[in-house]
Amino acid sequence: MHIDIITCLPKLIESPFNDSILKRAQQKGLVTVDIIDLRSYATDKHKSVDDYAYGGGAGMVLMIEPVDRCISDLKSKRHYDDIIYMSPDGELLTQKVSNELSLKENLILLCGHYKGVDERVREHLITREISIGDYVLSGGELAAAVVADSVIRLLPGVLNDETSALSDSFQDGLVAPPVYSRPATYKGWNVPDVLLSGHEAKINSWKQEQAIERTRKRRPGLLE
Ligand code: ADE
Repeated sequence: MHIDIITCLPKLIESPFNDSILKRAQQKGLVTVDIIDLRSYATDKHKSVDDYAYGGGAGMVLMIEPVDRCISDLKSKRHYDDIIYMSPDGELLTQKVSNELSLKENLILLCGHYKGVDERVREHLITREISIGDYVLSGGELAAAVVADSVIRLLPGVLNDETSALSDSFQDGLVAPPVYSRPATYKGWNVPDVLLSGHEAKINSWKQEQAIERTRKRRPGLLE
């Protein structure tokens, strides 16, 4: 998979890709990620990428020209399955959406900033819009990092057996069961006996019961 992230603030999004699972996924050659500075597609000597909104109102708007030049340049190099705009009014990111995106070959994530992007970009260049929740961030960069992380960890070979995405919360429509590690007793707080029993079938059914119980208590909407 290849992901291009277009931003006017590249520093805001670099670090998540330089550590841990996302770094290893790139080192293993399972994904390539390019962070593209929108300013390098600006047309004026000040490298402007934003301008005042027509009709007035507070806040600047990302201009169509640099965005179109950038996306056209990328499209001349590869075919993209989706060109995604990160926006609080987009489709809500869920595990289902991440699973779906993990099957794609090439993706662009466009990060908005200021008051957003010229609407013509959304009308003519963008194929999908994604929100990571009903709150407003200062820009799309943190949201793009969330999308990229949730998608990359699903790519075959990124996680090993112990960290397999199959045991993640939401992967089977339930939240994950509780987990424990050594010591078995701490300050009189005990790990449930069944987990120390070595009885695999019993352990698995306990985990399943716990997942259902937790989902019922914490996220009943998932069971509907
Ligand atoms: N940009 C600003 N807020 C956002 C959000 N909640 N999701 C995606 N992109 C955003």
